[in-house]
Amino acid sequence: MEEVQSVQALATKLGALPPEYVRSEHERPGVTTFREGDAPEIPVIDMAAPGFVARMAEAAAEWGLFQVVNHGVPGAAVAELQRVGREFFALPQEEKERYAMDLASGKFEGYGSSLKPDHGGKKPWADFFFHNVAPPTMVDHDIWPKNPTDYREANEEYCRHMQRLTRELFGYLSAALGLEEGAMFEAFGGDDMLFLQKINYYPPCPEPELTLGVSPHTDMSTLTVLVPNEVQGLQVFKDSHWYDAKYVPDALVIHIGDQIEILSNGRYKAVLHRTTVSKEKTRMSWPVFVEPPMEHVVGPHPQLVTDESPAKYKAMKYKDYRHCKINKPPTM
Ligand code: SIN
Ligand code: FE2
Repeated sequence: MEEVQSVQALATKLGALPPEYVRSEHERPGVTTFREGDAPEIPVIDMAAPGFVARMAEAAAEWGLFQVVNHGVPGAAVAELQRVGREFFALPQEEKERYAMDLASGKFEGYGSSLKPDHGGKKPWADFFFHNVAPPTMVDHDIWPKNPTDYREANEEYCRHMQRLTRELFGYLSAALGLEEGAMFEAFGGDDMLFLQKINYYPPCPEPELTLGVSPHTDMSTLTVLVPNEVQGLQVFKDSHWYDAKYVPDALVIHIGDQIEILSNGRYKAVLHRTTVSKEKTRMSWPVFVEPPMEHVVGPHPQLVTDESPAKYKAMKYKDYRHCKINKPPTM
């Protein structure tokens, strides 16, 4: 079994930040975060308030990211998801490594750390666990943590809530574009859509202002629903600035991914985001990526392509989109 060079293990031995984690000036959060008093706030949308659909659509168009409250996902289901994830990451390193992912042998799921530096030549300050949760034909329970013993139950329960919530979100986002409520859900593959659960683990870092948890990227998913712990770290790029997404208790963070941008023919924006890390605290986050089936073709919705608004994107199979994105350098 290959050894995982985990950031968690490294962090316990360190005084200063090793050079492969030190970002160049233009990427350092200490220099590039917008912290002036009049910073615009990333929208927090109350799904029980009148008129919330219009606010959600506006946030998806302007920011590509928003937080939702009164989303109907029980606090207990979220707390359980977080507890079992924390307990897994608290296990001894050798035990976690039994779940190591191994890209070379086609094992995409499992426990891992940045295997190689990213396109800028730097490593992200993060470890992770990654596995499919739905549909059942795509799930391999052998790779899921066996410890804690209720890991599976907590994740399955949370996934059911994600399926309900994301279907609702697709409905609102479709309706706000003048499409049938079921338009996005169907266009992304309906019940065959893939739900991927990831846990990000960002240990305390000796020099957080010089490094990043994850580099700037957009998610290639349709959308991503993320629960963070209370350690703030997510940042969003808008109008040439990086803004902090503040921690809102009980909120879920919704990222518009590339597939919604494409389907909406650019009306909604995939959000460019990155994460920062903390000197004293461990940050964790639990994103669920909702993806079309690999063979499914996604392109601009025909009703959104007109003479005034020609197609801005090519239709392609999700697996081809994914392949190109993984192998292409990022835009910044
Ligand atoms: C990610 O975008 O991959 C991580 C986001 C987060 O941890 O908040
Ligand atoms: Fe992301």
